[in-house]
Amino acid sequence: MATNSEQDVLNSGTTPYSANGRQDSESPLASVPMAPKDPMFGLSAAFRADTDPKKVDLGVGAYRDDNAKPWVLSVVKKADEILRQTPDLNHEYLPIAGLNEYLAASQQLVFGKDSQILHNHRVATMQTISGTGALHLGARFLSKFFPESDAKRVHVSSPPYVNHLPILHDACLETAFYPYYTPTTKSLDCDALLATLHAIPEHSIVLLHACAHNPTGVDPTQSQWRQIASVMRERQHLPFFDSAYQGFASGDLDADAWAIRHFVSLDFPALLVAQSYAKNFGLYGERTGCLHVVAQDADLAARIKSQMEKLQRVNISTPPAYGARIASTVLSSPALFSEWQEDLRTMSGRIVEMRRALRALLEKGKGEEGKWKHLTEQTGMFCYTGLDPEQVRVLREKWHVYLTGDGRVSVSGLNWGNVRYVAEAFGAVEGMGKADKARM
Ligand SMILES: Cc1ncc(COP(=O)(O)O)c(C=O)c1O
Repeated sequence: MATNSEQDVLNSGTTPYSANGRQDSESPLASVPMAPKDPMFGLSAAFRADTDPKKVDLGVGAYRDDNAKPWVLSVVKKADEILRQTPDLNHEYLPIAGLNEYLAASQQLVFGKDSQILHNHRVATMQTISGTGALHLGARFLSKFFPESDAKRVHVSSPPYVNHLPILHDACLETAFYPYYTPTTKSLDCDALLATLHAIPEHSIVLLHACAHNPTGVDPTQSQWRQIASVMRERQHLPFFDSAYQGFASGDLDADAWAIRHFVSLDFPALLVAQSYAKNFGLYGERTGCLHVVAQDADLAARIKSQMEKLQRVNISTPPAYGARIASTVLSSPALFSEWQEDLRTMSGRIVEMRRALRALLEKGKGEEGKWKHLTEQTGMFCYTGLDPEQVRVLREKWHVYLTGDGRVSVSGLNWGNVRYVAEAFGAVEGMGKADKARM
């Protein structure tokens, strides 16, 4: 039933907004500005709209097979079949923290089956909306509970993964860059990185890519990781790992978790890992991930988990079930697990093969051995080619080859049907002077 003042408004035919000086028909949301399009999704849309049969999508952030098609892992098909044949499966809500067996299996995957911190119940784990949700939950948690000080700032790599800053800022965290990539050598600027980690305030938060750095494809070597970890331990920084490519980078799940496990072995008092199953299971749209927070002891881990459950409850209430069921079916079966490892080797192996092929074609017969060595030295799905925005424009407009403006190539967009054409296109724009580029 309407109250008196609501009834007055209904009778008079006006809205409460007219009292604030707005026109009767004006929406309270009238001043909402148009947001810029997401650059990645915009690139995909431009590719789809291109009708040229030779077009090549090197922007896509998802694995493609040798026919440029999405690939459903054979082990995922099997797990799906098992779930379909499970008569008592229902669509009830999962617990707020997620599917129990999935949480336990995900912890083991990241930290190792025999990990002492798991044995001592020092890890608080939440199922999340893929890696993005894990980053966001971690950021919200830090925003709320990390003590206020000049160290309360998240340091991200330069260049960063495209969504890191927006996620952190959305959680009201301040950010700063640490040097990471040098364009001159197309590799890691380890000295500058170490110097920055020394210089920033003690107890700072440092966001690190566990493997297959996106966008550069440049990872520290194990010896460089040791140096990074040692400075961070000495300065008591908080490591926040983004692990979006475990097993997908090298084909070896343990090798791709090496950096995280090395940091854990140094017994940092707190450490976060945002884990995604999008790439390594091909479960992109199922939004399957975890956030792990390593605490000093089991009691603190339990308190941290209770607070993360509160954050989860107001944000998504409970996580989605399907992807977690697929992943845990595979992770808990030795036979399916080894089949998954085979699938990982198929994906990472094809990417390595395409890196080699493109490099060989670009260097062939030019007497420029090593000029494109960064193609094979970098790792994972992405490669920073060194091509500039103008060259990228020409590649798109003249050759119908699509990559992001920073020259990042998604290697999985290459296949035996298009790699020669892409090499020809890269070779053509590589040789262009400024004047040529302007004419194109
Ligand atoms: C470095 C990095 N972090 C996080 C993500 C988030 O992935 P998702 O939310 O699909 O798991 C991605 C996806 O491309 C990524 O490359």
